[in-house]
Amino acid sequence: MSFAIESKRATFSAMSTSKTKNGTRLREAALLTPTDLGAKATRDISGAMNAVLADVFALYLKTKNFHWHMSGPHFRDYHLMLDDQGEQIFAMTDDIAERVRKIGGMTIRSIGQISKLQRISDNDADFVEPLDMLAELREDNQTLISKLREAHDVADEYNDVATTSMIENWIDQTERRHWFLFETCRNAKSGGH
Ligand SMILES: [Fe+2]
Repeated sequence: MSFAIESKRATFSAMSTSKTKNGTRLREAALLTPTDLGAKATRDISGAMNAVLADVFALYLKTKNFHWHMSGPHFRDYHLMLDDQGEQIFAMTDDIAERVRKIGGMTIRSIGQISKLQRISDNDADFVEPLDMLAELREDNQTLISKLREAHDVADEYNDVATTSMIENWIDQTERRHWFLFETCRNAKSGGH
């Protein structure tokens, strides 16, 4: 198991623990959905899935950022492709969060928590060349594929077949986005024109 996942688990766990110090332990206990997977599975799978959820939100917002700030002669194609991809990425978020809740875990509550957990970096630049946008998203989707595989390994350790099954579909979708971005970059001239 990678240090990155362990580190993110620790971060999410620390965020939850700080709440218990304020007397919210009993209220949190009311949210513990019963599961036959066991407490260790709930902790480990939730940790991996919450980190993936933060990555997905980060990738969603960057995809929309580039959709909104696209420019150049291929504007229409690139703008529409990123809109399709953004919709697909956003659709993952509710399923990931609800999967965590189904197995008794707590999930993300705020943009602040997302920023602490995300492993896909933001891009706040004033201007990004069209082809640089597509190349960056291609790399980010590649990163997401590897993080999904890591989360799959964690769920597989506990025979959580529902989580592994969902992750397998998300890997396929992410590989499709990566394929489209790869081909679009490959066939375009430098500078996106
Ligand atoms: Fe739009």
